[in-house]
Amino acid sequence: MQVIANQSLQAYNSFGIDASAKYFAAFASCPQLQELLGDFGQEQRLVLGGGSNLLFTGDFNGIVLKNELRGMELVAEDEQHYYVTVQAGENWHEFVQYCLQRNYAGLENLSLIPGNAGASPMQNIGAYGVEIKDVFHSLDAWHIGDRSLQTFSLNDCAFGYRESVFKKKYKDQFVILNVTFRLNKVPVFNTGYGVIEQELERIGVTSLSIQAIAEAVIRIRSSKLPDPKKIGNAGSFFKNPIIPTEQYQRLLGSYADMPGFAAAPSQTKVPAGWLIEKAGWKGYREGDAGCYEKQALVLVNYGHASGSDIYALSEKIIQSVRERFSIPLEREVNMI
Ligand code: FAD
Ligand code: EPU
Repeated sequence: MQVIANQSLQAYNSFGIDASAKYFAAFASCPQLQELLGDFGQEQRLVLGGGSNLLFTGDFNGIVLKNELRGMELVAEDEQHYYVTVQAGENWHEFVQYCLQRNYAGLENLSLIPGNAGASPMQNIGAYGVEIKDVFHSLDAWHIGDRSLQTFSLNDCAFGYRESVFKKKYKDQFVILNVTFRLNKVPVFNTGYGVIEQELERIGVTSLSIQAIAEAVIRIRSSKLPDPKKIGNAGSFFKNPIIPTEQYQRLLGSYADMPGFAAAPSQTKVPAGWLIEKAGWKGYREGDAGCYEKQALVLVNYGHASGSDIYALSEKIIQSVRERFSIPLEREVNMI
C-alpha cells in the first residue's frame, strides 16, 4: 500500500476545492484498512468515498483513507426479495444500474446520486420519494476503537431524513465496509413525486417499469442539478427545514405561496431552495463561490473558490434566511 504525503485533494472532492492531505492512502480490503489504522493511529482520519458530500474548509492535517473495496453480489433470495451486497467502494449509480439490469427493484428512484455505496447509509440518501432505509437490510462496519467487525440492522442505524447513527452518535467511529439491500422481485412503483409522472408522460412511457422510472429520474436530475465535472458542488448544501406547522401557518399569512409538506404530526417540511430564492440568493455570485442559478439549494464553485469562501457564503445565507423567516437552516454537507 502506498502512502502519499501532501496529496492534493482537488480531484477527490466534487466541489473541486484545492486542499491537500498530510497523508493519503487507498485500501482495497479490511486487512489493509486495519494496517493503515494501526500505522497512523495517532493521526486524524477521514474515510473518503466519492467526496461528493463534503467541503474541505482547509488542508486536512491527518490521513485520508480512500475506500476502494469492490464487488456486488446477490447473496440470498426468498419468495419476494433479492438480497444484494455491495462493497463500500463501488460507485452508487453503477450499483443502481447493476440492479436495474437484473430487475432487482427498489433503487430506481435513487438513480444518478453521486458518490459511493459505502456512504449511502451515512445520511440515508434519498431522492424522489425514496430513501435507502426503505430497502436497506444490513451493513458491516469496522469499529476503529474496538478493532472489531460489527453488523448493523435497519433499527441499529436509526435512519432519519438525511441522518443516521453514523453521522451523530457514532461519528468517526466506524468504517462502513459493505451494505446489503433487500430488493423486490415484484416492483412497487413509486411515482408519487409529481415531476416523475410529468417526465414519464413527456418521454411517452405507456407501460411503467423500474427502468422507465430510472430514466425519468435521470432526466429530471440532469436538467436541474449542476454536473460536478463542469461546476463544483455537493448537491443540496442545506437540509430542508422541518418547522412546527403552527409557525408554517403563520408564515403563510405573509408568504401565501410558501410550499410546505406534512413531515410528522404538527411538523411541516419547507423547501430550503424556496426560502433561499425568496431571500434573494439564487444566482448570486461572490468571486467563484455562488448559489446555483437553477437550484438555490446548491452552492457552487465556479473554479477557484476556497472551502472557506463557500462556507462564508453559506453563513450569510443562513443568517439572511433566519432574519427573514425565523427558520434555522442546517447544513447537509459535511464540513471537514
Ligand atoms: P463522501 O463525500 O466521500 O463522504 C461523505 C461523508 O461520509 C464523510 O463524512 C465521510 O467521511 C463519510 N464516509 C464516506 N464513506 C464512508 C465509509 N465507507 N465509512 C464511514 N464513513 C464514510 N444526496 C442525497 O441524499 N440525495 C440526492 O439526491 C443527492 N444528490 C446529489 C447531487 C449532486 C450533484 C451531488 C454532488 C451530491 C448529491 N448528494 C445527494 C450528496 C451525495 O451524493 C451523497 O451524500 C453521497 O452518499 C455521498 O457519497 P460519497 O461517497 O461521495 O461520500
Ligand atoms: N425551490 C424553489 N427554488 C429553487 C429550488 C427549489 O422555489 O431554487 C422549491 C420549489 O418549490 C420546488 C421545491 O423547492 O418545488 C423542491 O425542489 P426540488 O424538487 O428540486 O427538491 P429539493 O427539496 O430542492 C430535495 C433533496 C435532493 C433530492 C430532491 C429530489 C434535500 C436537502 N434535497 O431537493 O437531494 O434530489 O429533493 O428528491 O432534501 C441532496 O441531498 O444533495 C439532494 C440533491
